[in-house]
Amino acid sequence: MTAIRNGTATLGTVTLVGAGPGDAGLLTLHGLRALERADVIVADRLGARAVLDQLAAEGVELRAEVIDVGKTPGHHPVPQEEINALIVRHARAGREVVRLKGGDPFVLGRGREESLYCEAEGIAVRVVPGVTSAISVPAVAGIPLTHRNVATAFTVASAHDPIEQLPGGSDHTVVLLMGIGTLGHTAGVLARGARGADCPVAIVEDGYGSGERVTVGTLGDIAALAAVRKVRNPAVVVVGDVVRLSPHAAHLRDRETETTSRDRTNHPRSRAVGSVSRSMAAARATTSTRSDRKTLQP
Ligand SMILES: C[S@@+](CC[C@H](N)C(=O)[O-])C[C@H]1O[C@@H](n2cnc3c(N)ncnc32)[C@H](O)[C@@H]1O
Repeated sequence: MTAIRNGTATLGTVTLVGAGPGDAGLLTLHGLRALERADVIVADRLGARAVLDQLAAEGVELRAEVIDVGKTPGHHPVPQEEINALIVRHARAGREVVRLKGGDPFVLGRGREESLYCEAEGIAVRVVPGVTSAISVPAVAGIPLTHRNVATAFTVASAHDPIEQLPGGSDHTVVLLMGIGTLGHTAGVLARGARGADCPVAIVEDGYGSGERVTVGTLGDIAALAAVRKVRNPAVVVVGDVVRLSPHAAHLRDRETETTSRDRTNHPRSRAVGSVSRSMAAARATTSTRSDRKTLQP
């Protein structure tokens, strides 16, 4: 990116980089090149710090000074205004600044707030998208957000915001970020709506990290399961029929097969279960899972 002259001073630039969910393999090439060029990297803790540590462990030498602003869920030791001011201060001093944020900066990441602030201060900003945890973390549990005949749309939401108006039924996948603290409430709200208490739910903790773990239940029992398992942030909560496609959901499919063979009506729910079973049968031949992933066996 070309440096901008402001009077006599040459301004640096800011590159907002998505670090992905915390695995250096999921950083983009544009992101890596930006890190290599940077003079200063202002990094969040969740996702971003793990990527920098992995790059160092793999022998990638970055010349930049790294400033850890320490954002983890619910814990922001450096307030947002100070982060904004810090980035601008370094860019004004002529430095190439990378603002490294977990996942994708524009998915519940306040990325546009930061870039608007820089632009208002006359600093040029480039954005390098990242792999969002909303899609990549369910994938470690074998959960696609859409699947033919099972779900054709999905919604990503912050569990801190009201979820009463979320669209669709169990064929419309809901992905909740920051969803552990309010899980009991959210599950209750969604269970009372079109999805119902039997709608499958998966929680994937610390996707791609050493604490990666999958818990599968239903809207009716997930809060109790999470309490027993002491489920913690960071975690992604996935709600919808697609959860049945996970290799970790065998117990749900078994339970539903028993119910449907007892109740051979033409009820829409029976058809949905049948559709997932057919998809699973087709997928079994090609799906492999990492043997070290930990699953709930209720
Ligand atoms: C403030 S949001 C930021 C989301 C980010 N911009 C993205 O696109 O992934 C932080 C939330 O993302 C989710 N998250 C991020 N990385 C994760 C990971 N590796 N495993 C599980 N959840 C993760 C958690 O729900 C966490 O509370």
